[in-house]
Amino acid sequence: MASRTWSVLLTLASLGLHGAATANDTEAATAQARQWATQLVQQTGAALKKELAASGPEGAIGVCKQVAPEIAGNLSRENGVRVARVSLKVRNAVLGHPDAWEQAVLADFDRRAAAGEKPEAMERAEIVLEPAGRYFRYMKAIPTQPMCLACHGATETLPPSIVEKLAAEYPKDRATGYSAGQIRGAVTVKRLLDTP
Ligand code: HEC
Repeated sequence: MASRTWSVLLTLASLGLHGAATANDTEAATAQARQWATQLVQQTGAALKKELAASGPEGAIGVCKQVAPEIAGNLSRENGVRVARVSLKVRNAVLGHPDAWEQAVLADFDRRAAAGEKPEAMERAEIVLEPAGRYFRYMKAIPTQPMCLACHGATETLPPSIVEKLAAEYPKDRATGYSAGQIRGAVTVKRLLDTP
């Protein structure tokens, strides 16, 4: 009887400890992912701002096209994780297409924004069990800023040269029609915790 009580208590204690350890792990992983996401958004934003000022929207296309995926690629390689930008309305369907979990989170972000939450601080972290293993997953919303509208605003407001370039390079472009303050997409971070 006594030993049974002890084993129940021990089980509860170890469950409690395990729960606490998992919560701490998630917190640390979230802080790390937030830092990568912020870095990607801020560095891309700074490069866009500089290039837009220096050479206008035509010259700045390369920032969203090359610089952002390069920063994401470097963060991924350096940290052994996947860092990328995804959106429900993509321009580059190959790089930016969200998987099922990401689609659900993006839809939830849009709902939260419609309910009045500011996209700047919007994020989601979760541990997800997939057939290939247990993953830490994280997403941080990317707000549309006024400077983004030169290439992501309503088609009729875009410079004609940009419309032409986008049509030539992205015939299936869906990433227009945004206004400032809307959620353009999100940074996604996926990190394998353990395999089954
Ligand atoms: C000068 C034009 C231009 C500006 C300004 C611009 N973008 Fe883009 N954006 C693009 C192009 C081109 C792509 C497709 C890149 C690729 O091929 O991967 C893109 C892709 C993206 C993507 C990846 C998802 C997708 O739709 O393919 C996100 C997210 C994004 N832009 C966010 C922003 C944000 C936020 C801003 C403002 C801070 C911004 N962009 C400003 C041209 C621009």
